Amino acid sequence: MKIATQAVQIGLEWDTRTGAVTVPIYQTATFRHPGLGQSTGYDYSRSGNPTRQALEDGIARLDGAARGFAYASGMAAITNLLLLFKSGDHLIVTEDLYGGTCRLFDKIFSQYGLSFSYVDTSNTAAVTAAILPSTKAVFVETLTNPLLKFADLRAISTLCKSSNLLLIADNTFLTPYLLRPLDMGADIAVYSATKYLAGHNDTVAGLVTVKDPVLADLVYFHQNSVGAVLGPQDSWLTTRGIKTLAIRMDRQQENAGRIAEWLALHPRISKVYYPGLKDHPDHTLMALDSRGFGAMIAFEVDKHELVEQILLKTSLISFAESLGGVESLITFPEVQTHADIPPELRARLGINNVLLRLSVGIEDCDDLIEDLRQALEG
Ligand SMILES: Cc1ncc(COP(=O)(O)O)c(C=O)c1O
Repeated sequence: MKIATQAVQIGLEWDTRTGAVTVPIYQTATFRHPGLGQSTGYDYSRSGNPTRQALEDGIARLDGAARGFAYASGMAAITNLLLLFKSGDHLIVTEDLYGGTCRLFDKIFSQYGLSFSYVDTSNTAAVTAAILPSTKAVFVETLTNPLLKFADLRAISTLCKSSNLLLIADNTFLTPYLLRPLDMGADIAVYSATKYLAGHNDTVAGLVTVKDPVLADLVYFHQNSVGAVLGPQDSWLTTRGIKTLAIRMDRQQENAGRIAEWLALHPRISKVYYPGLKDHPDHTLMALDSRGFGAMIAFEVDKHELVEQILLKTSLISFAESLGGVESLITFPEVQTHADIPPELRARLGINNVLLRLSVGIEDCDDLIEDLRQALEG
């Protein structure tokens, strides 16, 4: 079955008693036991809840995984994955990383003896060079936030297998609709489902998929022990969002392609980062490995003063953090999403005071371009 169909079908078979087409919201903390030593399969909602389970089964199917897990946020999901490691372990991480993930690694998990090396994971040789005797895993963003570099997952996974390292892929920007990391050799995929999966800027959620059933059991043990699970209402909203993932993604990336081309020709724009543009260094690889180039664009304006002008004058495109929803959003990574990246690293990467990040929604593309034009030229 094609992924667009699988996405629509999530939860459909759940309620055999009434035949409800969408999975019901089981807003309950606990479940009655039919008898001593007996269970319906559900005992307590931290350990398992049918609405959450429908979502977890659904994301596992979309990613070709043994199991899926739903968490209260993308950060909660990543936190649970870091519990797979012990004091003294070292991880190799994408350098151009979401600022919140960097904060979690450097300010919290470093206190518990984990160490992290930040490398350009779109350069497999750099990943190889960073391996230490204590390295246990490579954590990559499949398409990076905010500079949109694309990792060669197959090459990194070959490297990980030969060095006995776990490969964890944050696939938030692409989703299983565009790329399935587990098919390309990753062991675990993680998502801020807040973004494209839930898709409507109305829910904060995180999802994890695990390929190996034994590793999945350990992840479940951590999910249940820590308890940062997604509640039934938000599980339902995320499931509903996923049903339209394919058509939203198609429209969003079509809009993004047109906007990137328009920005690239604008005299006040000095640089455009969008992997769909032919001059992007990862364009050819991404065209082979991914169903599309996604709907995130980063661009530099020719003067810092223009940053504030654009953020204040765009009216259709909202000046707000987050991404991936149906509404277009624009943000200034240096002081918002990436403020927690050390300033030297930000400077080296090009996350500077003229860089803006645009999350393209499903609006009519002519209206989006007109909004950008009047903000740039106004
Ligand atoms: C690539 C990526 N991973 C993880 C996260 C964290 O997800 P959440 O905000 O749902 O906790 C984000 C948030 O922006 C992100 O962009």
